Amino acid sequence: MSLAQRRILLGVSGGIAAYKSCELVRRLRELAAEVRVVMTEGATQFVSPTTFQALSGQPVRVSLWDEQAEAAMGHIELARWAERILIAPASADIIARLAHGHADDLLATVCLASAAPLYLAPAMNQQMWAHPAVQANVTLLRQRGAHVLGPADGEQACGDVGSGRMLEPHELRNALQSSFGGGVLDGLHVLVSAGPTYEDIDPVRFIGNRSSGRMGFAVAEAAAQAGAEVTLVAGPVSLATPAGVAQRIDVRSAAQMHAAVLDAARQADIYIAAAAVGDYRPNEVSAQKLKKLDGAKLALQLSENPDILTSLSTQPEHPFLVGFAAETHDVADYAQDKLRRKGLDMIAANQVGDGLGFEAADNALQLYWADGAVELPRAAKPELARQLIAQVAVRYRASRR
Ligand code: CTP
Repeated sequence: MSLAQRRILLGVSGGIAAYKSCELVRRLRELAAEVRVVMTEGATQFVSPTTFQALSGQPVRVSLWDEQAEAAMGHIELARWAERILIAPASADIIARLAHGHADDLLATVCLASAAPLYLAPAMNQQMWAHPAVQANVTLLRQRGAHVLGPADGEQACGDVGSGRMLEPHELRNALQSSFGGGVLDGLHVLVSAGPTYEDIDPVRFIGNRSSGRMGFAVAEAAAQAGAEVTLVAGPVSLATPAGVAQRIDVRSAAQMHAAVLDAARQADIYIAAAAVGDYRPNEVSAQKLKKLDGAKLALQLSENPDILTSLSTQPEHPFLVGFAAETHDVADYAQDKLRRKGLDMIAANQVGDGLGFEAADNALQLYWADGAVELPRAAKPELARQLIAQVAVRYRASRR
């Protein structure tokens, strides 16, 4: 999986996130990609073409009517040259112009004239992104085969909080990288479950846990980067779908996760169970909010949820199974016991607490399989996820030999 000598046309449209695209050019150049930048007039209000010229090492084009540039590499040649077109940031305006097939500036014209796959990294105010006009245009572009990367949720340059932030440069680079394939999971379908589950008690209360979903989301992203087609089954989390993930199924309860995973597992080669599934659910979900019992003790009757991994491992045909075990103590013993008990091919164990594991940015993992083990030392979750995927790929291939 390499970007070396890959020809990337980066379209930059008018938005404050254009400053992040300077970093993106650097990230692409680091992997020896060839990058040519086309800016809209609006984009030049945010970043100067000279900046992109210096970073890409190539002339930057803005106008369709630049005689000198057209004599050198005309817009049709530029369109043919590109193996991928990525527009980052993609403003509401360029999205609208592309959706309606306009050719009123160089960038829109090149997109029309090119057969290269089109990638869009939208960036705009959350209200604009949510507007039905923008959503309709994005849907139209998706239907025509455009790949929409993000946007992410979070704080915006305008002070709003919501969906509309451009993905980070490394995420965009990874999406382009995996679009060329050649990864360790090429051609494989990977199912990942992530996040907590919520077991409702009544319409306002539930039993949940502290899983943020970040480890599972990082694993899904790393699998996609490694060339897999990824299905992500997510419990209730507030995380954007990682770049490159083909399908996301949102669930709430353990029973819903069980059903969604069993269904998706029929197509999967590998299932990585990173979700923290609730072990018990209330026997009854009250249709009305429970009222206080005036001093009397309240007892909740709970029943055990089915184990998703065991449901799969006891089927005659099932994917390669990777479990997680988050433990506060005796990590190795509990993990190896779960590996055997649940009939897994591999288990990733981690200590929770001390700034690691749940709700934390970092994690460390010990991996166990029937006749081996390896330690992945403390690292940020995305990095650790990449190392985990590399190990899973090796063990998966070994199991098929
Ligand atoms: N898991 C599952 N189905 C469940 C519960 C857990 O598939 N109903 C999976 C998790 O996704 C994880 C692994 O099993 O990959 C271990 O989860 P954990 O909660 O640590 O295991 P439990 O069997 O619930 O053991 P414990 O008694 O430690 O809670």
